[in-house]
Amino acid sequence: MSDSVALVPSQNRIGELFERERERFAAEHPRSRELYERARGSLLSGVPMNWMTRWPGSFPVFISDAQGATLTDVDGKRYADLCLGDTGAMTGHSPAPTVAAVADRAARGITTMLPSEDAVVVGEEMNRRFGLESWQFTLSATDANRFAIRIARQLTGRPRILVFNHCYHGTVDETFATLADGAVTARHGNVGPPVELAETTRVVEFNDIEALERELAAGDVALVLTEPALTNIGIVLPEPGFHEALRELTRATQTLLAIDETHTLCCGSGGYTAAHGLEPDLLTIGKPIAGGVPLGAYGLSAEVAARVLEGTIWAAADVGGVGGTLAGNPLSLAAARATLTEVLTDEAFERMIALAERFERGVAESIAVHRLPWQVTRLGCRAEYMFAPQPPRTGSEAAAALDPELDALLHLYMLNRGVLMTPFHMMALISPATGEADVDAHTEAFAEACAELAA
Ligand SMILES: Cc1ncc(COP(=O)(O)O)c(C=O)c1O
Repeated sequence: MSDSVALVPSQNRIGELFERERERFAAEHPRSRELYERARGSLLSGVPMNWMTRWPGSFPVFISDAQGATLTDVDGKRYADLCLGDTGAMTGHSPAPTVAAVADRAARGITTMLPSEDAVVVGEEMNRRFGLESWQFTLSATDANRFAIRIARQLTGRPRILVFNHCYHGTVDETFATLADGAVTARHGNVGPPVELAETTRVVEFNDIEALERELAAGDVALVLTEPALTNIGIVLPEPGFHEALRELTRATQTLLAIDETHTLCCGSGGYTAAHGLEPDLLTIGKPIAGGVPLGAYGLSAEVAARVLEGTIWAAADVGGVGGTLAGNPLSLAAARATLTEVLTDEAFERMIALAERFERGVAESIAVHRLPWQVTRLGCRAEYMFAPQPPRTGSEAAAALDPELDALLHLYMLNRGVLMTPFHMMALISPATGEADVDAHTEAFAEACAELAA
């Protein structure tokens, strides 16, 4: 590649192809269009959750069935699903053991405000996988992060958290902070921040150990909250030595460290933490751990757990701001027990990672053949192509590589050829139900897109 000139697709060409694909999409999805028009009468913007407006095309596809790695829409079109509910369905859709457990549990009590035996098994399994001793359950990864932050503030008596620029940890107020000319400010589009983000949050670039050291030296950070590799602005891998420095600096400044494994569970059954021997004080997770049934979790190291036990006013636990009426419900935990012990197993990850390697090879080959200035990065069974020649070192570099027009075109191009990619960036995830044919469907469509873009 080094001696060849990279070809940047022109905006004109991208626009021309997008228009053609948009017309094809509209013509082939009359029933989705009809439902969307009707939905605008009762749902804000015609969708049940606002991000669904961000799919390219003039309206989103409405879903009829999702089974394994295949999704079928209301127009009868089938898709190889590489989005998998943005990791919520990393198990594949409706895996049989989870469905059976849910059916059984749903018939015997869904939510009770009392523990079930499944909770014990899931706690033990989380302990085995991630190495943290004590677990609590929520309904989402967002809530797990929220409670991790509260606990860290409580234990340290410090007001701020530190996150890495362009992170995403769910709809957690403190984490919507970004750097603008070195100053902390709210991210573009952040809805109704309760206070100025600079009051709650310090922000540094991922992999910037010097900045991390400087910001932690202030002594007011309760918690560093991070994914072990950024996945939400495109994949940004940690550089050698980064995690060692992060752990050393947080320990030296008595700052707690939370690793958010919600997406990086793609690295194996114990996530990046187990795969790379990390030693967080807290670990948060959610999305696929109950096969798509709402469940989040946070784990505490033995030391943190002891401090929490000591400091909790148990008589006021119901109004302490940690927990939730439906959290830890028997249905979610029955689903988690089946999912963790029978679906997202070590053997399943081996197959999933091998298929992601196949995806990565297919993408890399087309990029090389068409001399596009792009690259593909893989993290376990997740892979992503980005519109820059080098892998990003920081969230800002990853953000600079975003190209909304090209992104919209490629998402639509894939949809029209029966492949569903994760929205907002060109990310693909492999489930235990994914097959070579699903990966190859993408490889073929991607090769076709590259050829058209390079023409
Ligand atoms: C790393 C990470 N943490 C937490 C969350 C929040 O998950 P949820 O929206 O299910 O609460 C997300 C969502 O994308 C995420 O990517």
